[in-house]
Amino acid sequence: MGDSSCIAAPSTNKPIMNWSSLLSPDPYFLPELKLQGKVAIVTGGASGIGESTTHLFWKNGAKVVIADIQDELGQAISDKLGENVCYIHCDVSNEEEVINLVDATVANFGHLDIMFNNAGIADRPLGSILDTTKSDLERVLRVNVIGSYLGAKHAARVMVPQRRGCILFTASACASIAGLASHSYVISKHGVVGLSKNLAAELGQYGIRVNCISPSGLVTGLSLSARQGATPEQIEAGLHELGNLKGKFFRVEDVAKAMLYLASDDGGYVSGHNLVLDGGISVVNPSILKAVGLIQ
Ligand SMILES: NC(=O)c1ccc[n+]([C@@H]2O[C@H](COP(=O)([O-])OP(=O)(O)OC[C@H]3O[C@@H](n4cnc5c(N)ncnc54)[C@H](O)[C@@H]3O)[C@@H](O)[C@H]2O)c1
Repeated sequence: MGDSSCIAAPSTNKPIMNWSSLLSPDPYFLPELKLQGKVAIVTGGASGIGESTTHLFWKNGAKVVIADIQDELGQAISDKLGENVCYIHCDVSNEEEVINLVDATVANFGHLDIMFNNAGIADRPLGSILDTTKSDLERVLRVNVIGSYLGAKHAARVMVPQRRGCILFTASACASIAGLASHSYVISKHGVVGLSKNLAAELGQYGIRVNCISPSGLVTGLSLSARQGATPEQIEAGLHELGNLKGKFFRVEDVAKAMLYLASDDGGYVSGHNLVLDGGISVVNPSILKAVGLIQ
């Protein structure tokens, strides 16, 4: 008689495991400032995703170096945020300037914990390969791929001896969904995802985590320059219309919060990951959903 789920399992004579020795005193403790004592470089930090991430990292206790070629914008952000933020002019495609950026950061702040390789450019909105020029491709690769490679290389130069660090990249959802951007831009962002994963494989042995994020379209300097004449509101409405997730606009703060997760101890065992931030469009085929009448 009785409920079979209450019948005791036969004894296996195995000792009861006690995991408590593996737990830290309070494994669920969430520090108020997630990057207290950390030093970060944000390339492309004078605008858009980089600017927003600079603010959020700084608000979470990090010392942040903004690296960009828009000197007035970068310096103004640094002046506004105060002594824990500084601006250094750096064209990420120029190795001498990247070396100077990393060395000056270590000289000023003592070490480097987070290298966010975010600076990027687009060439043209879309178009046939027949219209793409070799010089377009070279220009985009120089900033998006060579710039990311140089930033990662010189960050690794100082992080390997420290035996800790976090290297981050901004790729794009166009590396997960075909047809969203120009060939040059798509080639460059596939390169960034590949570099990120390959580096995670190499640098894990030194305690260095490497990850990238792949946002879908959102309003920034880059998307505004790609659609000249359109207002930010028009671009945002168009992107929302195209998106899968309704009732929420995708903004730079959403990307910055994902970067904070990856940069902080919250993402402490995340490496080699490409975090796609696209409201689900890369896993949905809207034409099938429309055909079967699930969406209009
Ligand atoms: N906005 C989007 O829809 C979108 C979507 C996916 C990925 N991204 C990526 O996000 C990253 C940030 O772009 P954003 O959208 O914030 O645009 P943004 O134009 O607002 O910011 C890019 C920043 O990079 C800087 N920059 C450009 N070339 C540089 C160089 N050679 N050296 C140093 N800095 C340089 C610019 O001055 C600018 O401040 C880029 O890698 C971009 O490809 C953007």
